[in-house]
Amino acid sequence: MKMKQKTLNDELLELEAKYCSWGDTVHYVEKPTIFKRAQGSYLYDKDGVEYLDLQMWYSAASFGYKNERLNNALTAQVDRLPQLACQYLHEEKVRLAASLAQRIERTFEEKGRIHFNVGGSSAIEDSLKLVRNHTGRNLVFAFMGGYHGRTLAASAITSSFRYREKFGHFGDRAFFVPFPYCFRCPYDKKRESCSLYCVKQFERLFETEYYSIVNKKTKACEFVAFYIEPVQGTGGYIIPPYEYFSELKKIIDAYNILLVDDEIQMGFFRTGKFWAIEHFNVTPDIIVFGKALTNGLNPLSGIWAKEELISPDVFPPGSTHSTFSSNTLGTAVGLEVMKLIEDENFATDVPKNGKYFISRLKRLQKKYSQIGDVDGIGLALRVEMCQKDGYTPNKELTDTMVEIGLSGKLTSGGKNRGLILDVGGYYKNVFTLAPSFYITEKEIDLGVALFEEALLKAIRQS
Ligand SMILES: Cc1ncc(COP(=O)(O)O)c(C=O)c1O
Repeated sequence: MKMKQKTLNDELLELEAKYCSWGDTVHYVEKPTIFKRAQGSYLYDKDGVEYLDLQMWYSAASFGYKNERLNNALTAQVDRLPQLACQYLHEEKVRLAASLAQRIERTFEEKGRIHFNVGGSSAIEDSLKLVRNHTGRNLVFAFMGGYHGRTLAASAITSSFRYREKFGHFGDRAFFVPFPYCFRCPYDKKRESCSLYCVKQFERLFETEYYSIVNKKTKACEFVAFYIEPVQGTGGYIIPPYEYFSELKKIIDAYNILLVDDEIQMGFFRTGKFWAIEHFNVTPDIIVFGKALTNGLNPLSGIWAKEELISPDVFPPGSTHSTFSSNTLGTAVGLEVMKLIEDENFATDVPKNGKYFISRLKRLQKKYSQIGDVDGIGLALRVEMCQKDGYTPNKELTDTMVEIGLSGKLTSGGKNRGLILDVGGYYKNVFTLAPSFYITEKEIDLGVALFEEALLKAIRQS
């Protein structure tokens, strides 16, 4: 029986090698694993080996795999109205838009509207259209270490040149500003004494027209929006100082620069609040969201914008469109996610679980100098892997741990298991942990034990 399954595995890998593009991220690891089943916090491979997932599809499946309530909403819609061209209306789209817009209005005291699309990058593209339409200009600020997707325009405001290198420019490349990554301060400052030196450096750009940003006579700025992730996702779950964004906002407000808040990875309570930006006491002009909106079921993304940016008289019918945007299956699940959020207590449960997880990881940090930094907000947790000095980035050790986790041969907890880890960070040495919101303390303990086992094996191999 086992022999037969192995053969099937080999056959699939052979077909994959021949017929699948390798242009996606599957081959970041040497030997891709083929999964067959998912439940709660776990994935299962073809041999039934259980893998504890500490990244939950980069936070798209935050509410757990096969969440019964959300799956039921999907299947009910399959039975009721599975397809509908997006030029017609259906109840779930309207109710989901209303629910999101009303929640944002309660939180930020701002009226606005929602526009749906399919993936995160497409929603970013829509937000760029809104910015250009409103300001009549193209250029935007974004952060070093920021990630906004891989379509052409989204790549242009994503920090890595690697993602643009072979594809030329279509959207305008952003002006990239250093993010407050205090563990590796871009200005070599210490948080205790820096007085937000990074914000002051940004402010200096506006001091004279000869710094290329602003016309001091009219106060017009060549850069009309600032794209932010309040907590950087792919950049390595980096949490800025709590005063950072309110200080930044004072500067951009003085020059009418829009604040575009990319919540694609951190939205929907990943950080313990509905939107990550809520931790920082500023109101964005545009919010972009996706991923967990449908718990990774039928894809759906979207933007919210202040009324003056998106009202029908400035953003009329046909301004943007995609065949599958506001699809009936995605909107039905999205609506159920909003109801689930009302019924659950994520505002207290997520930070509580996060705190427990961090305390366990910090214990591990005391034992292993290779763990340079442990930090987290809600259930967005970072573990930065280093050389023995606790600072020099150690990508090799990180990659080896990923492969060991994926091999499904860890034994903590008394049987063969795997561990699913995702890697981010400027040096690709940060485990960005995004566990299910329903992870239990017992599962956290298991996760930490598996992590330690993988670390020990990786150290031995290095
Ligand atoms: C913050 C952020 N923005 C945008 C994107 C792009 O979204 P998608 O991959 O759905 O196009 C991602 C995806 O990881 C993301 O984390």
